[in-house]
Amino acid sequence: MDFLIFGLIAYLLGSIPTAVWVGKVKYDLDIREHGSKNAGATNTFRVLGKNAGILVLSVDVLKGILAVILPFLINDYLWNNDHLIHLKIVSGILVVLGHIFPVFASFNGGKGVATSLGVILGIHPPAALICVVLFLAVFIIFNYVSLGAIISSLAFPLLVVFAFKNENTSLTVFSIVLSSAVIILHHQNIKRLIQGNENKMNLFKK
Ligand code: G3P
Repeated sequence: MDFLIFGLIAYLLGSIPTAVWVGKVKYDLDIREHGSKNAGATNTFRVLGKNAGILVLSVDVLKGILAVILPFLINDYLWNNDHLIHLKIVSGILVVLGHIFPVFASFNGGKGVATSLGVILGIHPPAALICVVLFLAVFIIFNYVSLGAIISSLAFPLLVVFAFKNENTSLTVFSIVLSSAVIILHHQNIKRLIQGNENKMNLFKK
């Protein structure tokens, strides 16, 4: 029963289409018709500017964190560790699914990067922080957000399994599923990166 309740809360939380709502309410446009047409923080930065981008990024990361820490916040002593990690994993998957297929925005959402970051910060903070550093390094060097997201997604399961020697099979499977989903959703970015026409973004320019 608790899987159903927390799973549903996570899906609804993920379904909050921050980029779509910020675009509609503040700028009277549908972000999904502009720029890369992705309803995510990167495209919001690109189309609507820094303030809107920071807002979308923050809310999308928070959705992920909240979904996975909710079971822990509500009850951190009744469930054993194994049950808690499974609740976090199910919530983590569902909040990202909600972000990608939001019920509040015709099931047409983003690629799940910011929300996945929130999820992994709540589930495996040390690996998540290394992914953030890796993302920033790739982004600053190459000026591609997508490349940073793809490389840090690839790194996440490797860090969990090899660097942090995780022995929990569910966590390993979760890290592989999450990483694969984010990479698959970047298939158009990967094509553009290979063709050399991916959108660049410079952190230090306007
Ligand atoms: O957050 C998604 C990012 O990695 C790529 O976004 O808009 O360039 O496709 P975009």
